[in-house]
Amino acid sequence: MPATPATDRYSKPAIFLHWAIFLLVALAYVAIEVRGPKGSDSRAFWNTIHFCSGSLVLALASLRLLWRLWHGVPAEVESTRILVFLARVVHLALYLFIFTQPLLGILMVNAGGNPVSLPIVGLDIRLIGADPVARPLLKAMHKFTGNLFYWVIGLHALAAIGRHVLLRDRTLRRML
Ligand code: HEM
Ligand code: HEM
Repeated sequence: MPATPATDRYSKPAIFLHWAIFLLVALAYVAIEVRGPKGSDSRAFWNTIHFCSGSLVLALASLRLLWRLWHGVPAEVESTRILVFLARVVHLALYLFIFTQPLLGILMVNAGGNPVSLPIVGLDIRLIGADPVARPLLKAMHKFTGNLFYWVIGLHALAAIGRHVLLRDRTLRRML
């Protein structure tokens, strides 16, 4: 059996994981935007949603990377060298993001002296102990990356839609 897929579509698990991670990242962003003032019940609720969706991104990102290494990806859609290069750079950045952003969040909460408590599954994640020196640095990095990737994700989505509408190639269809 060949190690690489014969069709030019992404496999069903890759498609499922791509869109599930997209929805969870969107939920993590929404939760932060709507959480409300410090000390309110709304803030506690939405913070929990943020922690849960973010942690799930990390879990699904690991599955996604393992699946990619196991199954491979379809050959790239034919395009100019510069577009192929840019798409590779952005995809690499997105992969790094779905691992590092949740990890930074978890480390930030842990450095503040708290575990990340996930309800329903009853999991308490504690990767490091309290660290008052590292916490502000982790927080600044989490905020910076979070704000930067609004733009990177927007660019990635715009490129996919632009290729579908203007170039009329299969890039978007093979991820649906
Ligand atoms: C892909 C997943 C994630 C994304 C996209 C994300 C994004 C963000 C963004 C945009 C902010 C607001 C930054 C600002 O105020 O300018 C934020 C804040 C925060 N995030 Fe995340 N995050 C993710 C995962 C996590 C995880 C897994 C945790 C911890 C378990 C976490 C903990 C926090 C905390 C505690 C804050 C509030 C920081 C503060 O203002 O005190 N995040 N996140
Ligand atoms: C949090 C949001 C998103 C993340 C983290 C993300 C991440 C990724 C990554 C890492 C890849 C490369 C897949 C691989 O080669 O293994 C990819 C491919 C793709 N994404 Fe996204 N994506 C997001 C949102 C979107 C959105 C909103 C759209 C469309 C509107 C989209 C459309 C696509 C398409 C069409 C491909 C295939 C590109 C190709 O074959 O060259 N993605 N995405």
